[in-house]
Amino acid sequence: MKTLSDQAIGTAHGKIILIGEHSVVYNNPAIALPFPAAHVEVTIEAIQGHSQIRSNYYEGSISNAPESLNNLTKTIEAICEDLGYEPSGMQITISSLIPAERGMGSSAAVASALVRALFNFFEQPLEYDVLLHYIGISEKIAHGNPSGLDARVTSGNQPLFYMKSKLPERFDLHLTGYLIAADTGLKGQTREAVQDVANLLKKSRRKTKHLLSSLGKLTYQAKEAIEQDNITDLGKILSKAHHHLSDLTVSNEKLDKLVQVALEQGALGAKLTGSGRGGCMIALAKTFDQAKHIANELMKNGAVETWVHSLGADTNE
Ligand code: PMV
Repeated sequence: MKTLSDQAIGTAHGKIILIGEHSVVYNNPAIALPFPAAHVEVTIEAIQGHSQIRSNYYEGSISNAPESLNNLTKTIEAICEDLGYEPSGMQITISSLIPAERGMGSSAAVASALVRALFNFFEQPLEYDVLLHYIGISEKIAHGNPSGLDARVTSGNQPLFYMKSKLPERFDLHLTGYLIAADTGLKGQTREAVQDVANLLKKSRRKTKHLLSSLGKLTYQAKEAIEQDNITDLGKILSKAHHHLSDLTVSNEKLDKLVQVALEQGALGAKLTGSGRGGCMIALAKTFDQAKHIANELMKNGAVETWVHSLGADTNE
């Protein structure tokens, strides 16, 4: 356990669903990428007395933290109890660059960094399964019924090919090109959007089933394009997926506008990412300069934040 002069650190990062959101709910595959550009760090210092928490949303004693932080406070309690320590004497500082409720896995990433920092603070080894177990406790409180995708992608370094009924498959990304992500500034509406797709499935069964299975097929094609380092094809596949998601009613005006701007400015493809109705969109570009240009144009057209991320083959960013 750390002394008063020491600091324990835990880190994690955001995630981006490249393709397969919504259709993944109906047992089709999804591809998600770790997104290190959106980073979280939790530091813990030893202090005298009651534990304190410092974050973007709250600063004060853990025992007075608002209910909205229950996912974190209950996880801290569970870990301290399991490891046999009193949950006192800690100054916990959460520094997150991941916007909350934008489909970037903010809550899972914060939980992951917190669990790592706590195990580091108590100088205990942390197995990956144990990490996933505690992120799961936090995510159940935050979201009710998490698929586990966010927990894995925000705490690991590899992209995942994910299907609900199977063990996630990790793969390497060596794609020549860049991914641009842009935040609409609007909160995503995961619960509503998922429910509306379920309602649509009841109302227009054939058409909706077809859209969902087409998204599933596009996800397999996206995996092939990644394996062949073919970002041009991948771009076309992502744009098709956006149209299907729009037909599923989960896009909105701002997402459609940013997708259109990205394509007009030379993106190889663009789509919403995550649950939709807000949150973020993504686009692909061949070079870093093109990606930067597209990101600037997205900012001029209403995005509140953008990120440019190398897809693996070179590390300009
Ligand atoms: O917006 P996010 O990152 O929570 O993504 C939701 C993804 C959905 O496929 C719409 C729902 C799910 O549980 O997979």
